[in-house]
Amino acid sequence: METSIHANFESPIAVQELAKETIEPHTNLRPKSFEEYPGQERICENLKIYTKAAKIRGKMLDHCLFHGPPGLGKTTLAGIIAESMDCQIKITSGPVIERAADLMGILASLESRTILFIDEIHRLPANVEEILYSAMEDMRLDILIGQGPTARTVKFDLPPFCLIGATTRAGSISAPLRDRFGIQEHLDYYSYESLTKIILRSAKIMGTLIDEQAALLLAKRCRGTPRIANQLLRRVLDFALVAEKDRIDLAIIDKALNRLGVDCEGLSHMDRDFLRIMHERYEGGPVGLEAISAALNEEKSTLEDVYEPYLVYRGFILRTARGRMLSTTGKEHLKNIQS
Ligand SMILES: Nc1ncnc2c1ncn2[C@@H]1O[C@H](COP(=O)(O)OP(=O)(O)OP(=O)(O)O)[C@@H](O)[C@H]1O
Ligand SMILES: [Mg+2]
Repeated sequence: METSIHANFESPIAVQELAKETIEPHTNLRPKSFEEYPGQERICENLKIYTKAAKIRGKMLDHCLFHGPPGLGKTTLAGIIAESMDCQIKITSGPVIERAADLMGILASLESRTILFIDEIHRLPANVEEILYSAMEDMRLDILIGQGPTARTVKFDLPPFCLIGATTRAGSISAPLRDRFGIQEHLDYYSYESLTKIILRSAKIMGTLIDEQAALLLAKRCRGTPRIANQLLRRVLDFALVAEKDRIDLAIIDKALNRLGVDCEGLSHMDRDFLRIMHERYEGGPVGLEAISAALNEEKSTLEDVYEPYLVYRGFILRTARGRMLSTTGKEHLKNIQS
């Protein structure tokens, strides 16, 4: 059965006219409520309860830590929490807060009932991180004034606030910081069903028609990641526009993804090179990530955060104590794409 999302236009000409005007690269696809956010159902159900309970108590939500691979919706969730708590949100990130004074300044200027979102929280320098301990636990800043024997601590009360931290690397967060987050959730890759819903929603916002089967095909080839789904959808739309197609169908998706180098399993050039290097240079491993990073000329941290998690999730590679190993599934995939 073929169903499609109907936008507010009918003829192919209208699609092109509307598309030209409305499909800007920065069309805002970010969901603003739990209802607009398919997937991560367990996390969303829990967060709905926690935010509701906080509102009933008239208190701020407990501090939250979201971890998981890039593009899965951590920042989006922080925004949704802010909307549902009816709070303002201030956004910053670990690498930009270089000095303890920077963070003190941010905390001291917080208004009551603000959500402070710190992205890449694992990259906060240790001395900056320590400021957060009393801020999170006691809603207080302990400021050390002076040096040596005359040094004294001045306490500064903070208004009720909620810290939401996000990271692609839960393992890099120190235990004292991690323990101060009352709510901790790991976001995992999305199911095809959830991704299909996300693609249909995005297509509707972009003002384009897409067959449900076509959305499912795209869902299967976007590495389980909403951000990639939206990026691929935009590219497919480019192909459709140029080919003067009035809707996105299976054929145009297949053509566009092949041109983009996205294979039948949704792997990119880099993913395939990762597998090939393991197979051709290291006979399937075990091999250390440093060696793969040197061979691919790519930062080890990028391989660790962006590429490897999905390859492990899909079972193409295995992480062992002796290093990474190419699995039978990984070898079969390499064979399939060669033939
Ligand atoms: N569940 C979802 N439903 C619809 N769209 C989503 C969902 N999750 C993420 N997105 C979309 O994917 C994009 C990436 O999401 P987001 O920026 O929240 O990811 P992230 O986990 O914070 O990534 P990073 O680790 O790189 O900061 C957003 O633009 C948003 O529109
Ligand atoms: Mg983010």
